[in-house]
Amino acid sequence: MTPPKNRGGAPGRGPKRADAGRGPRPEAGRGPRSDQRTQRAPGTGTTRPSQPTQTKREPQRPVIDVHDPDGVRLQKLLAAAGVGSRRVCEDLITQGRVEVDGQTVRELGVRIKATQVVHVDGERVQLDESRVYLAFNKPLNVVTSMSDDLGRVDIGDYFGDRKERLFHVGRLDADTEGLLLLTNDGDLAHRLQHPRYGVLKTYLAQIQGPVPRDLGRRLREGVELDDGPVKVDSFRVVDSQPGKAIVEVILHEGRKHIVRRMLAEVGHPVLSLVRTQVGPIRLADTKVGKFRSLSSAEVAALYKAAGL
Ligand code: URA
Repeated sequence: MTPPKNRGGAPGRGPKRADAGRGPRPEAGRGPRSDQRTQRAPGTGTTRPSQPTQTKREPQRPVIDVHDPDGVRLQKLLAAAGVGSRRVCEDLITQGRVEVDGQTVRELGVRIKATQVVHVDGERVQLDESRVYLAFNKPLNVVTSMSDDLGRVDIGDYFGDRKERLFHVGRLDADTEGLLLLTNDGDLAHRLQHPRYGVLKTYLAQIQGPVPRDLGRRLREGVELDDGPVKVDSFRVVDSQPGKAIVEVILHEGRKHIVRRMLAEVGHPVLSLVRTQVGPIRLADTKVGKFRSLSSAEVAALYKAAGL
């Protein structure tokens, strides 16, 4: 993979960051980067058209235009999004399994825009080809930022050249490796990292062994930290040796250093930490320092996990 150039953005919904100039990085052989940009995920707020006063209440259906002359045939967009062949997509439509902006579409002639919201069998299909969804295996000693004021190696060095402005979905500590999702889909990025939506993150932590029998129970019940309590959604011992153990911790929390702080609090400081899964997305065989594009099924699964 080739590192850098264009500076991408910060994660969705985080505090707005000031543009940050950066000095040269002798170790990376680069000069200052001036095109750093602040980025914020687009709003999720919806606007409702004002309704005429009605004497009789009728169920309100969203108004959709499925005959947009500038649109593309629905079956063509579905096929391009990897749902199936054109023929299969036509069958899905006539079987009433396809919804556009919340309405079932059964006709074959409809034309829509790729920006409209489409579900097949209740699963969101991303039609917009400009959307990018990447799973990156972040190496150790790489800062989760598109630009780092201190000149450390950051993820901008891996993705800065891309034309899209990518959000990193949450953060991993520099000394944590593993799965980091990147996307230019701001709404999704926001939901995936907000604890309210309960998207689970899975970590493998190497800790000092042996692991006491009641450790899982303590972590499930909750541990008090400086900034409030935290509990795991799931815990299991993967491997336990006298001196070292590997444990799997699953939680939907996104607070800073949360896994390290929690395990330190129960007397088992983390020796090394890897994130292996975010919601339904696994690192799989993506090598350290490499990334892969998510499949359309993985994107649909992410949408589902985020309640979109
Ligand atoms: N928790 C941590 O302590 N560090 C990470 O990088 C992620 C979760």
